[in-house]
Parts: sequence; C-alpha cells; structure tokens
Amino acid sequence: MYGKYWMSPETTSINRLPMLNMEHLHSISLDGPWRFQLLDRADASPAGSWNIENVPSLWTINKGEHHYKDAPIYTNTQMPFDNLPPSVPLHNPTGIYERDFTIPDVWEKKRIVLSLGGFESVAVVTINSKDVGMAKDSHLASEFDITSYIKKGNNSIRLRIVKWSDATFIEDQDQWWHGGISRSIKLFATEHVFIERLYLTPGLLPDNKTGTLKIRAYINSINEAPLADWTFQARIVGASKAQKMSQTFISHSRTLWTKKTREQKEITDSEFHGKYWDGNVPDPVKKVLRELDPPNPGYAEFEVKVPNISPWSAESPTLYEVEIQLLDPSGKVAEITTKKIGFRDVRVVGNEFLFNGKPVILYGINRHDFNRETGRVLTRDMFRSDLLELKRWNFNAIRTSHYPNDSVFLDLCDELGFYVIGEANIESHAFLDSICDDQKYLVAFVDRVSRMVERDIHHPSVIFWSLGNESGFGLNHLAAAAFVRKFDPSRPLHYEGGIRGNWTHGQEVTDVICPMYPNISAIVSYAKSKKADRPLIMCEYSHAMGNSNGTLAEYWEAIHSTKGLQGGFIWEFWDHGIDQKLPDGRIRSAYGGDFGEVKHDGNFCCDGMFFPDRTPKPALYEMKHIASPVLISTKNANTGRFSLLNKNFFVDLLGYELGWAIAANGEILDRGIVRIPKTKARSAASFTVSSKYLKVASRKGESFITFTLNQKGPNSWAPANFEVAWAQFPLASKSATKAKALTAKPTEFVTAEGEIVLPYGVIAPQLTLWRAPTDNDIIGLFADRWNEWGVRDLSRTDCVITNKAGKIKISNIWESSTGIKIKHSQLIESIANGVRVTESITLPAQLNDVARVGTNFEVSEDLHKLTWFGVGPSENYPDRKLGRVHKWSGAVADQYIPYVKPQENGSHADVRWFDLTNLSGHGIHFILDKPRQVTVTPMRSIDLANATHNIDVYPSGNTVVTIDAALRGLGTASCGPDTLAKYRIKPGVFTWQWSAETI
Ligand code: GAL
Repeated sequence: MYGKYWMSPETTSINRLPMLNMEHLHSISLDGPWRFQLLDRADASPAGSWNIENVPSLWTINKGEHHYKDAPIYTNTQMPFDNLPPSVPLHNPTGIYERDFTIPDVWEKKRIVLSLGGFESVAVVTINSKDVGMAKDSHLASEFDITSYIKKGNNSIRLRIVKWSDATFIEDQDQWWHGGISRSIKLFATEHVFIERLYLTPGLLPDNKTGTLKIRAYINSINEAPLADWTFQARIVGASKAQKMSQTFISHSRTLWTKKTREQKEITDSEFHGKYWDGNVPDPVKKVLRELDPPNPGYAEFEVKVPNISPWSAESPTLYEVEIQLLDPSGKVAEITTKKIGFRDVRVVGNEFLFNGKPVILYGINRHDFNRETGRVLTRDMFRSDLLELKRWNFNAIRTSHYPNDSVFLDLCDELGFYVIGEANIESHAFLDSICDDQKYLVAFVDRVSRMVERDIHHPSVIFWSLGNESGFGLNHLAAAAFVRKFDPSRPLHYEGGIRGNWTHGQEVTDVICPMYPNISAIVSYAKSKKADRPLIMCEYSHAMGNSNGTLAEYWEAIHSTKGLQGGFIWEFWDHGIDQKLPDGRIRSAYGGDFGEVKHDGNFCCDGMFFPDRTPKPALYEMKHIASPVLISTKNANTGRFSLLNKNFFVDLLGYELGWAIAANGEILDRGIVRIPKTKARSAASFTVSSKYLKVASRKGESFITFTLNQKGPNSWAPANFEVAWAQFPLASKSATKAKALTAKPTEFVTAEGEIVLPYGVIAPQLTLWRAPTDNDIIGLFADRWNEWGVRDLSRTDCVITNKAGKIKISNIWESSTGIKIKHSQLIESIANGVRVTESITLPAQLNDVARVGTNFEVSEDLHKLTWFGVGPSENYPDRKLGRVHKWSGAVADQYIPYVKPQENGSHADVRWFDLTNLSGHGIHFILDKPRQVTVTPMRSIDLANATHNIDVYPSGNTVVTIDAALRGLGTASCGPDTLAKYRIKPGVFTWQWSAETI
C-alpha cells in the first residue's frame, strides 16, 4: 500500500480528484449494508468472519445488534493518546468495509467517479483488489476517478478506514472521537469530457438591484479525449435579461517562442521589457499576448451583470437558479446541473462589517454535527429541523464549528436565510503553537482551507471563511489565507487565532476581530478605541454549559449600542450527550468517561442551548427576546404612546401582527390589535393604544401592558400567529394585597423547638446559603469556596424563642460544617388563614460570594401545581431574566429542568406571590414582601449535587420550596467571564418577608 501513509502529514491524499461541488445526473448510492471487520492496527489484514455495518454509520456507536470494541472518547483540548505528532498509537482501530456493486450497462463508456462523503480519519480505496488511492480530511468529500479500475458487471470495493492518523492532530476539536463513515458514499458517471471544477461567485452592486455573477469553469477529459468543439454554457433561470454565457473550446497550439513573427516579437518584447510597467496595456497588445499565450484549453470564465434582481439576505433569502450545461461537439447535452445562487455583497469597511451595505447584527450560534443516536451521521431532514428550530428562536447566523458541514446544510442555509461562517477542518489544540509552523502540515492546512472554499464558494449564506479553530497562528495559516484572498476576494477572512492575545494584530489572516469569551467591558473598550481597525464579532461567547448564559442581556446592550460591535455566536447548539443503554435497561445521556475512557473531559461536551434530545433549554427564551426583530419603547406606558423600531436591515414588518393586552395581577382586563405603522427596515414609527385601563391606576393589582408580535401567516418554520417578539411595560397600579390584620395566635405556627409549622408542611423552613453547584460554579471554582466554608451543611446550634406582643421571635445561630457562625432571626406573626415570617441574617464578612441567602422548606407532594405571578414562562435567574411578568402555572414536576449533569435549576425571578395547590385546588398562597426568586421543584439540592446524570436524580417525595432574599447570578464561568459584580452576593444584612395562607 502506501507506506505508513497514516503518519505522513505531507501526504494528504493519493489520486484524489480536485474538490468538486456539482450534483450529477447519473449517480448510484452505495449507502446501505457493507461487510465489515474492525481490526486493531492500521496495517492489519482482515481475517475471520465479517459483520454487516450500515453506511453511513460510526462503529463507535453501539447500534444494538453489534457492539465493537471501540467506544467513543470525549476529550476537549487534550489528545486521546500521548504520542507526539505525527505518530499515533500502534493500537489503532481500523475498519474494513467491503461490498459488491454493479455498473449499469449504460455507464459502459463513461468516466466513473467514487465519492466518499466523510470518514474518520483516513480512507484507503481498493477496487477489484487494486489500490485506487487514499484521502484525509474527515468533513469534506473525497473523490476518485475509478474508470480504469472497474469492469463490466460485478465489481467489489474495499475501504480501509483508519481512526488515528497524522490528521487526528489537526482534527482535535472539542467533541467526541469516533471511527467510521459519517457521510454518504456514491458513484457518479460523466462523459470522458467533463466539468472538473466549477466556481460561481455572485455579487451585488451598490444600487442593490444589479446582481453580478462570475463563473469560472474548468473542463477536463480522460483518455486524451479532445476538448475541441465542446461547449460550456450557463444561464440564470428567470433573470429578466438573458445573459449570454457560452464558450466553445477550440484546439489551439501555442506559437513557439522562437517562431514568432517580427511584429509579434516586437509587441511581446516591449511588454516583457517593462514598457507597460504601470499596467496600462493597450487592447491590441493584450490581444496579441493572448494569442501567443492562450489560456488552458477547457477554461471558461464569464462575468455578467444581472439587472433588477432581489438581493439575498438572511431576512429575505431570494435565490436564483443557474443552469450549467456541457454540450458535446454535436450539441448534445453531456452534463447538466443547476446551482442556487443569491446576489449579495459582503465586505468589511473600517470597523464595520457590511452586508449589502448595512452593518447587520449576527445573532449567531456555533453548531457541531451531532446526534445523540447516530454520533454525527445526519440526514437532510435533521439539518432542516435544526435550522427551523433556530429560526423559531430568532437566530440568524451559524458558525460551522469547527469544520465544513455537509453541503446540503449550506443549501438549506441559503434557502431559509442564515449568515454562515464556513470553517475549515483544522484544530491542532493540543499542539497549538507548533503544528501551525510545522511545514510537514503546510499542505494539509492549505488543502483543507482551499477545498472548503472551492466546494462552497457559490453559497450566498457563507459570509466569512474561517481558517479553522484554536490552532495558534503560524506560517501554515499565512499560506492558507493567501490562497483564499486570491481565490475568493469576495469574502472576508475570519480566524480567532490571528488575534488571540492581541486584537490589534493578525490582519493577514482575519478581517474581523473574533475573540472567544471576552468580557463585555473589553469588547466595548476595543470598539471605542482608536485602534479598532476591524469590526468585532465574537466567534464564541456565553458558554451554554448546564444552567448558564448569565449576562446575555448585558452583552447585547453593549452590542446594540456600540458601532463596530456586530454580534456573536453562542457556544453552542447541542449538549453532546450520547444515548447510552445501561445494564439495567435505562438510557442515559453519556458524556466523557462514561464509556470507560481514561483520558477525558467529563461533561464539558454538554454545553449547548439544546438538550441532547434537541429540546430547547430555558436560556433560549432570553436569546429569542434579544434577537427579536422589533424594539418597542415608551416614555410612559400610561399615555398609550409607544414607539416601534424595526430592527431588520432589509425587510418591513408587514408580515406581522402586533397585539396588546393589559393585565392586573395576571388577569387580563383589555386587549387589542395595533395597526402596525409603515416601518421600513431600521426605522422607527410611533403608535398609540387606547384603553380605559391606561388612564386610571388599576385597583386590581400590579398592572402591565404586554405586546406580542406574531407572524400573520405560516412559513416554513412556524404556523400562523407564531409569536416572534414581545415587550412589556408596567402601568401605574395599586397593590391588590391589603395589609393583613394580625391575629393573636402566632404560637400555632411555632414548635417548642423553634420550628415554623406550615400548612401541608413536611420539613420546616430553614436558612439556606447554598445551591447544587452549576457547571459554572464548579469550573469557576466558586463551589470550592462554598465547600471550604462548609455552607452546604448548616446546623442550628442555638435557638432562643421570645414571645412579645403577639409576635414570636426565633433567634438562631447557624453553624457551617467548618464552624462559621451565622446569626439569623425569624419573626412570626399570625394573620387570617396563615402566618407571616420576617427573616433576617447577618452574612459574615468571610462569606463573600455565597450561592444564595434564602429559606428552604418542604410541603406535601399533594401540592403538585405551582402558579406564580412573576417572570416566566420558563426558568429565570437574576442575570438571565428577560421574561414577562404574568400569572404562570404548571406542574411542580415540570419546573425541574433536566440538565445532563444535575445542578441548580428551575428558579423563577421576580415572583410577587405564588400558589401551591392540590387536585381540588386547595393549598397555600404565598405572598412575598417584594419580587423575589422562588424555586419549586420535587428535587432537593443535595440530591442534584450528588448525582452525576439526570436519570439518577429522584424526586424527594415532597414539594421543595426555596424563597431567596438573594440568589447568585449564573454567569458563564465554565468557559468565559463570571457574572457581573452586581449579581454576586456580598456580606451584610439581609431581610426578607413571606407569608403563607391556606386556600
Ligand atoms: C472553545 C472552543 C470550542 C469549545 C469551547 C468550550 O475554546 O473553540 O471548541 O471547546 O471552547 O466548550
């Protein structure tokens, strides 16, 4: 075979064809069952019996019928083995795939190409026992001309897929390591003369009405077939003016240098010796030069203007079809294909990124190929449903972290409207600063970047080319960047490594400042600085690991109000939890270490805005509101006068309906529809709402006017009336809760031991300063401090009960498990049908930055329904609480949010009152002294903290309630900044009051 090709980075491929990007009429799928053996060395030979493995699929995924001795491994930055590049372990899982296939008779005189969509990480192709070639680069197709290897009728193909290779060191992305075939395999056929490469670059002139299209096509042939008299032609289907794009190739022979005429010699000499040093070559001279030095046969190039087009944007993704044909000398169509294009202009001007001339904002997300059942084998339907889901949450941009996605994915982004950063398959994280300067990897860097650009150049959705991720900044990047700048000047470059540590550097490799996880203060300070020579778009921010994404609102306040800040990409779409069947039959979401890996990075792969089963996490509500297409504002809602800003850059708001509702204490008093004023993109208009409830302060309780912007009709991602945005404003109102008269029986609510007795109570209210640490708390090391302080286990070491004037005061001393003492008091008053408790503590100076200060108790699980008047509808925290104040309700069990690794969850912000009720509607009505965080779920914090996986958390058997005087924000410290100081808890005195009445 080819020596130790799997440890030879210089050898990126053998006999692979140039990157293709065309669909072919004549094609046969080789997906389906293949004979399969898993060997343990790259050079081992198959022996013994064969299994059946489906293509595409990964052998590391246990599909039930077979369980191969090679499981997924999850590592982030570290390599899964200790070898130094380019050497890999001798034990190297290697799959041998074999099958037979038949070539149809009609293909007999054709050129036949094999296309391997994706494999991890090296593929060697053998056909009818003859070696065809080898390829690396796991996320782009590799194609081989197999015409001379096949025979009439039955043929056999063998693929050797080697898991670990020199390529593994530059595919060290933060995700699962798998082995196998991840994308489809097919054969296609062409004539012996064929379109080998096809590059379409659409553009848009500043009038925003005239499109441009540049086409470059390379026609080639096998078996010396002549190209003369073959014709390449293209047309834009439906364009108002037909553009002639047709070229018939002629056979031309070059005039020998020594055989030029006197006139030709004079002309070429003058040019050669510098007469036109300023580049102003007269046309007659150009003509002669061209005749003497004709372009390669088979090359066709066109540049046309297309008037009266509708431009493409993510808001209005208008596509045009280009039909491409290759005609044989008799005029018969030999090859025909279509490509969808969109006319748009992308450029960086100063510190702004302009899309069709506008400084668009990117509400982006990073997306890996992932599926909990198939690893990363995905179908078109899966891609589509991912994208529709993102549309429903108002995202408009995707970074294909950290490799090119299937081209079908980009087709869908073109169609549905997303701005895409196309990223090359390069991450050398474990050898960040060495591989990028190692010439052995030079070809691989250029190969991976150039193949991506060649494949995807025609996609209007792609706005930046990214040179990869976390691979340092070296010579190899410079080489790759140089290729792209020349090959596709129509798009800016993106590479975070170019600016890491210094945002004033890296101009060679990045036209955008694309930092990861910067502080809000840093991005603002950059954008306002005189050194800001490029726009800033965060390639990653707001790490969504577990219960996270605190301070999203503050990031966006900064972005929306600062020129040169144009958005960012949340890390990331998915929690990569793989479905794993346990011996007891239960299925859990597995993360690093769960398959017995020794080296692993635990649950760091569960850091998405969506759970592994693709259900959305609560943080999405925050992002949806931030990214909504309108901003409604008012100076005073009671006047009924409001202003509406259309945040879109290209479209109006005609497709929406704006409704309003006025509610007091959660009860709707009035509602209506606003006629949306004509509001062009990026402009504002005012409108009024009239309702008698605006004039007088309602006595029915705290009142709000809430707007909802709904889609009028259905579209591909949502039905008619789907809500895309909301806004809420407080109205002048009077509290509905009257001060309750005291009754004289507080003793009923206090035991001799100083415990408060609540109706339906099971565990009496106690002080709590702790929460089940979130991933941010753990990785940010805050939870370590809580452990050092011993605040998880507080015990009451002293309790004095005094009864004065009908009020009982319980004065407690709590002691942490490491001996820190905390003074706490509870004042108990009895009111009609219940009890009122006023609590106070002095948080000692030592306890600087605890998780919470609050009251925790448990009541009967019969109280299974929660109704709250506060922010909703989903889980909210002090630094993640963009929601509407309303009367929300749901099952207590549904308040629990099943983070893959259990942790603090389910809290509600700014709760004014809440009810816990049983099946017959009886229960407890709680009133808080001011809007506070309240958490009600069936789970105890301690059980959450002790469990490693969601399926191991069991309900406590009670309804568990926590009312917080203060709750620490979430931040994003698992990979990013902590929450802001204002969301941390400082030592001092805290007082809070709550009452509980039976209903
Ligand atoms: C970034 C990296 C991502 C991911 C993320 C943390 O540094 O680019 O691939 O590892 O951190 O989850």
